[in-house]
Amino acid sequence: FFLPESFLSGKEIPYDDEQDGLSKQIVIRFSHVVAENTPKGLAAQKFARLVEEKTDGLVKVEVYPNGSLHTDEDELDALIDNDVQMIAPSVSKLTNLAPEWGLFDLPFLFDNDQDIEETLSSELGHRFLSLNENKGIKGLALWSNGFKQMSSNLNPLLYPDDFKGQRFRIMPSPIIAEQFKALGAKPVEVPFNQLYTSLQEDQFDGQENTISNIYSRRIYGMQKYMTVSNHGFLGYAVLMNKEFWDKLPKEVQRDIQEAMSETTSWMISESQRVNEEQLNLIARESSIQIYRLTEQEKMEWYQALRPVYQKFLQTTNDKEMKEFVKKRM
Ligand code: LMR
Repeated sequence: FFLPESFLSGKEIPYDDEQDGLSKQIVIRFSHVVAENTPKGLAAQKFARLVEEKTDGLVKVEVYPNGSLHTDEDELDALIDNDVQMIAPSVSKLTNLAPEWGLFDLPFLFDNDQDIEETLSSELGHRFLSLNENKGIKGLALWSNGFKQMSSNLNPLLYPDDFKGQRFRIMPSPIIAEQFKALGAKPVEVPFNQLYTSLQEDQFDGQENTISNIYSRRIYGMQKYMTVSNHGFLGYAVLMNKEFWDKLPKEVQRDIQEAMSETTSWMISESQRVNEEQLNLIARESSIQIYRLTEQEKMEWYQALRPVYQKFLQTTNDKEMKEFVKKRM
């Protein structure tokens, strides 16, 4: 098949194709902001391997981890401009494109990993994938990095009152901001690549994230208290430049979709494994005090955070999303 020059991304490598002699390799640049030993970092590498296998090397996925190519602040623009062809931002960072993404930031939305998996693969999950098509963005999959935990330097976080007056780093999401305001805390937006330095510079007291991010960014070494609260979900939207996608040969699209669906199913258990393993490493390697939320404490958090659900309902007119959220209030 013929691939126009303009279609190919940055690098072009000659590729021997049995049918037409010399054709070009298709390069997909996949940029993300986390470390390689995190669920997203590992999933990106697995996806790259599977795509190369399935296309017999016709498609090469180049993975750029750690924000080495683009950070939180410019990766969406880079995708839209086709500087990179794939990114996988946390869904929270897409709320300025469509407020509906904030649904996944609702505290205590999911009961467990099975609940996450079922919801992401449901009809509702699929609707999210086409949410930003009018912006030139094709949704390929929703990935799970499991649950977020809370940490702070000021005091243990066991009851809602413990949050009062503290500054918490957040991703740019109005629902996450509401969550901390409901607890009497002050949300401070900080891009992921500035997390460590801004904590060093005392720009916030506490933060929430998955264990894999707390571990790989060494946040645990700079925080005194951590509560395993599982209060929030961290999901990723795996996105592709839509024009790039639309121009891919049908069989390549099919191979990519197969590789993506295998990676997505694998990632659910992989994120549990990585987060559990790294929680043990944190407990062993550092002096951070780790608490686990009791059922009673969890009920108190839940009560304090209930108003956040109302806020979400005000941000969307989407009936199915509203129904889904109301059932979980
Ligand atoms: C964060 O900014 O805390 C995370 O969303 C980073 C990530 O992509 O896991």
